[in-house]
Amino acid sequence: MTKEKKVSIIIDNRKVEAKAGLTILQAAREAGVDIPSLCALEHLPSYGACRLCVVEVDGIRGFPTSCTTPVEEGMVIRTDTAEVRTLRQEVLKLLLSEHPASCLFCGEQDECKDFQGTIRKVGVTTGCRYCPNDSLCELQDITQKVGLTETSYPVYYRNFPVEKEDPFYDRDYNLCILCGRCVRVCNEIRLNGTLSFKQRGKQTTIGPAFARTHLEAGCEFCGACVAVCPTGALSAKVSKWSGKPDEIVETTCPYCPTGCTLDLKVKGGEVVDVSADYDSPTEHGLICVKGRFAIPEYVLSPDRLATPTVLGPEGYDLIDWDGALDLAAEKLKEAGAKGSCVVVSPDLSNEDLFAAQRFAREVIGTEAILSPLLYDLGGDLRAFVDLVLTSEPIDSVGNAKGILSIGLDTTYGFTPLGIAVKKAARKDAALMTIDDGECNLDFLSEEAFHSDPEKWPEYLDGIMKSMSSNGKKGKVPSSFFKKGERNVAIVGPGAIFSKKRKEIFEHVLSMRNDLGWKVIVCHPYTNLLGMLAMGAFPGLMPGSIKSDGVLKFKDPGAIVDLKAKFKVGYFIGEVPSEAMPQLDYIIYQNALPAPEGVKPNLNLPASLFTETPGTTINFEGRILSFNKASEPFADSRADWWIMSGIAGRIKKGALKYSSLAGIQSEIKKAVPGFEGKDKKVPRKKVVMEGKAAEKAISRKTTVEAPASFRGVPLHDHVAGMKAIEERRHK
Ligand code: SF4
Ligand code: SF4
Ligand code: SF4
Ligand code: SF4
Ligand code: FES
Repeated sequence: MTKEKKVSIIIDNRKVEAKAGLTILQAAREAGVDIPSLCALEHLPSYGACRLCVVEVDGIRGFPTSCTTPVEEGMVIRTDTAEVRTLRQEVLKLLLSEHPASCLFCGEQDECKDFQGTIRKVGVTTGCRYCPNDSLCELQDITQKVGLTETSYPVYYRNFPVEKEDPFYDRDYNLCILCGRCVRVCNEIRLNGTLSFKQRGKQTTIGPAFARTHLEAGCEFCGACVAVCPTGALSAKVSKWSGKPDEIVETTCPYCPTGCTLDLKVKGGEVVDVSADYDSPTEHGLICVKGRFAIPEYVLSPDRLATPTVLGPEGYDLIDWDGALDLAAEKLKEAGAKGSCVVVSPDLSNEDLFAAQRFAREVIGTEAILSPLLYDLGGDLRAFVDLVLTSEPIDSVGNAKGILSIGLDTTYGFTPLGIAVKKAARKDAALMTIDDGECNLDFLSEEAFHSDPEKWPEYLDGIMKSMSSNGKKGKVPSSFFKKGERNVAIVGPGAIFSKKRKEIFEHVLSMRNDLGWKVIVCHPYTNLLGMLAMGAFPGLMPGSIKSDGVLKFKDPGAIVDLKAKFKVGYFIGEVPSEAMPQLDYIIYQNALPAPEGVKPNLNLPASLFTETPGTTINFEGRILSFNKASEPFADSRADWWIMSGIAGRIKKGALKYSSLAGIQSEIKKAVPGFEGKDKKVPRKKVVMEGKAAEKAISRKTTVEAPASFRGVPLHDHVAGMKAIEERRHK
């Protein structure tokens, strides 16, 4: 191991060993010396715009900015001299000359906080007490740190209109100090390039070029700019008046199999906002709009099911939990093993999936453990599972020489992968995109094929032939994807839900098996691996993914009659759809109401992942946690609690769970990888068993569904997602 190079420096008369290559600001911070700064930010390259971080260095003329000056052996640095302090104060005064700064110097600050709480919601911010960033603001901190108590410059109010036309966050550039953090995070971290500096002089502001809205300019609404803004210029619509959170709870995003780490901001017992975790090993903080902005409105939706209800002749009647559980048990008992099915969402936690399969097998006595993906994928499920089980981690595109993206646009989802692809393409990977229209990765691709998915298998064929024949007969030059080099194929939702997915899957499987391609599958079934590992699937018992990573997979259509009519359907975190079996009686256990047109006979309100803990398995096989951030909504209950209650009424003593720990200890015994230090479910290969039951269900191909969770479209409950959906389908 090579030893890290160090340099010896002196900071404020103290000898310090600093890593070579650090800036003075970074070295000082590591040594516990605080230098005021505004434009510098961890994870962003140095910029040197605000000049607040000036220091004195022996041998360097003037006052260098510590965020742009690297440490050198023997450097003598002073961070807090009278000259440096005066200079910082002057810099800050200038900066505040275009900012509503009166509150910053007002002697009545504390009293004002207590008495003006209700008049903050004015259209334009005229001081801290009217600003969404009050008490969170870096400018307030800096003013204190620098010791500024008054300003001698007249304050110029730029009078920009507050921009509210885009979804998710508002922009008040009257508060902008032009630190450039938002522009840099958008361009250099998110590689999206939505923002730039516009105009000159006093009219300088930030935004997309050519007076477009953010939506029109391809903004991903990842919120990274909002998170780094040191002032109240950028603020999330939903949480802008929430103030400082009481608590931050780390959890996992449940909206796709990437499993990004999220920090939930909790205020007054409610989840009000979310931020990313740049230290997360899977997505490195590069979360998408769903994780960033679509959680508070979903979990706090006014439509949440609050208490059990039963359908009567005149609509829904309230029923208490005892009555509801009795009724569910009675209906399932009456229908018996042959007449009942259990429908589970792939978005459920491992614990709920484990409990659900026990419920179906041990309490009802059925293998009819259904889920929407059986109907979405039909006869193509076997090939799909084969690709999913061996899907590579995001970082595998980092050293790829060739990347082929099929039906993937990462503007509003799978952004960690999208950014990894962009980075690789900017480095030296050859990128080819295949889609039915423009996609956000096209601008970095060497070839972008836009056509009806009908033609995609043909393109794939061409690629394979050109690789085999050294490009002489193929449509793609041999220089593009070379045999023996690291090539990665990404199968996106556009391919999974296309008419030609069967052929696409076949081609990608043979690219993987015969030509050594690595494959990544971007699909919407969040905890599909958990569903397979927990055995919540027809014919698969818990632990079916063996410790050697092999999954022996039988076609579900060969195990249950997927077209059968059932008397009673017990939907756990999923919504009934036309594609699913016909039912006489629907027990609906979810957090939000069933879609219009579906009238469940019994509604059982379930708690959500922010209210009840659990685990999920992301697409790499990592076991990740949902942590409780708030109390269960109204009279809702954890899914496993409800199942346990019904089970005990059907079969005495069955599924007697009183805590999550009880389920987890059963899972640890049954599922390889669930216990241990590196909690990861093994994944290597799928061995198909038995004949494919292609005829058992039709090979249904659907257009890509809107982003949803537990079967409920996000745009039904999250205002901004509507605008996103409209744009997605333009
Ligand atoms: S951005 Fe900060 S300093 Fe400016 S008004 Fe808002 S809270 Fe006050
Ligand atoms: S939300 Fe994300 S993509 Fe949009 S401007 Fe901000 S950083 Fe850029
Ligand atoms: S909007 Fe915020 S982050 Fe962007 S330049 Fe202005 S103050 Fe800095
Ligand atoms: S990429 Fe997936 S897991 Fe990550 S924030 Fe978006 S929806 Fe959530
Ligand atoms: S933090 Fe160094 S110039 Fe802004």
